[in-house]
Amino acid sequence: MRINVKTQKSLDGFENNIVLMDESGKLSLGGRKLPGGKALTGPIETKDFKGGLGGTHLLYGPENSRWLLTGLGKAPFKARHWRDAAAAAQKTFAALGVKQAAFVLPAKADVFEVVTGLLLSGYVYDRYLPAAKKGKQLSRVTLLLPESASKAKADKARKLAEAHAAGTLLARDLMCSPGNLAGPAYLAATARQIAKNSGGRIKVKIKKQAQLEKEGFDALLTVGRGSRKEAHLIEMEYNPKGKRTLALVGKGITFDSGGISLKPGAAMDEMKYDMGGAAAVLGTFRALAELNYPHRIIGIVPTCENMPGGDAYRPGDIIKARSGVTIDVKNTDAEGRIILADGLDYAKEFKPELIIDVATLTGACVVALGNEAAAILGNEDGEAYYDKLVESGKATGERVWPMPMFEEYDYLIESPVADIKNTGGRNGGTITAAKFLQRFADPKPWVHVDIAGAAWGDKERGIRPRGGNGFGVRLFLNFFDRF
Ligand code: BES
Ligand code: MN
Ligand code: ZN
Repeated sequence: MRINVKTQKSLDGFENNIVLMDESGKLSLGGRKLPGGKALTGPIETKDFKGGLGGTHLLYGPENSRWLLTGLGKAPFKARHWRDAAAAAQKTFAALGVKQAAFVLPAKADVFEVVTGLLLSGYVYDRYLPAAKKGKQLSRVTLLLPESASKAKADKARKLAEAHAAGTLLARDLMCSPGNLAGPAYLAATARQIAKNSGGRIKVKIKKQAQLEKEGFDALLTVGRGSRKEAHLIEMEYNPKGKRTLALVGKGITFDSGGISLKPGAAMDEMKYDMGGAAAVLGTFRALAELNYPHRIIGIVPTCENMPGGDAYRPGDIIKARSGVTIDVKNTDAEGRIILADGLDYAKEFKPELIIDVATLTGACVVALGNEAAAILGNEDGEAYYDKLVESGKATGERVWPMPMFEEYDYLIESPVADIKNTGGRNGGTITAAKFLQRFADPKPWVHVDIAGAAWGDKERGIRPRGGNGFGVRLFLNFFDRF
């Protein structure tokens, strides 16, 4: 979709138009008039359309011009209102087969959110679908602002939203790509591509088997052993020579069968999105390539496939992680925390002020928060960032919510044969998984984001598609501005 900004005194010149109406019945036309007099305003006056957020009502003006009344909801208007209204309008027009439209906006409109809503709505992973079944989107939208608005400011907001959306769309494509097509090597190639297209702004290094062995990444290598696909460690760097460093670590299990502790068959196919954390990291870097963020960001993605092959690791195995901590494997399906152990340990070498890891880590998190929020957990120094993360979640709609990390939970991962075991039982599963990670993140300030539920949805809603949704990219980009 191509989006441009135009400031214009009248509302003339477009065949298809989107106009916003709020619940008080007020149209947001930026001081301009609808054409055609009563013919258009009549249906508004009857209150057949109430302006509820996400609602739309199609009217016809002179020369069969379309005027799509779109609900903005109830004032005060927040980010969500502009975003969801734009998404609803986009989807309604696209479903009619409309290709081009003008989006009538008042001077005070949140252009960033409108563009976000336009670009991220109606997403379908359609690479392997025939033309008739592909997702439909408007191909060109003109944001029609009044002359009192600043075009330069609107264009800046548009560009920013386009970068954030490009990152999210990449993350969605990666999450939706099946395990046979998108293995660890594919994620590595995607990282290389991001660096290549960044004009030197992003650097990438990839470690493969031999180097991982040499450098002691035994936790990552052990989980990858059951698969014919080689494990990789992706390292990305965005370095504007800023003083502060933040590290993002993403779980990149490209398919999680459970390994020898095999998962049940039902919905196992969904485990292609077990690299959702990796997707969030790569998507964030895709966006960073186009932004002028002042600080250094490091991205670390340990990636492999969890399969029950002849050389697969087994329950009872003891692994010595890169950090030297020994792990008693109670269940090969608790693999994410094992590869993250090496990822977190490695991230510390960049001396970051904060490490954030992001992972589809536990089914328990899906039980606790459903698909509407991610859990955040961390060590004491990481907790200092919770408020900012929660605020970012509120603004972007990529919600996060804290869970406790009391010392009282520590004993649950004690092992009689190694430093720690990789499961803490069914109860409190999200917390014990985070407790395991903490052993590798300490003493750095650290926050863990469990996106097992948030990264996926069975039903489309607003800008969130069905299936893998690219959760995390917009959250992190928003957080960077508060860091
Ligand atoms: N990738 C899964 C977690 C998951 C479950 C993500 C559902 C998204 C949706 C993870 O590797 C896993 O299998 N965790 C186990 C841990 C258990 C064996 C301690 C779980 O949550 O059941
Ligand atoms: Mn698993
Ligand atoms: Zn997993």
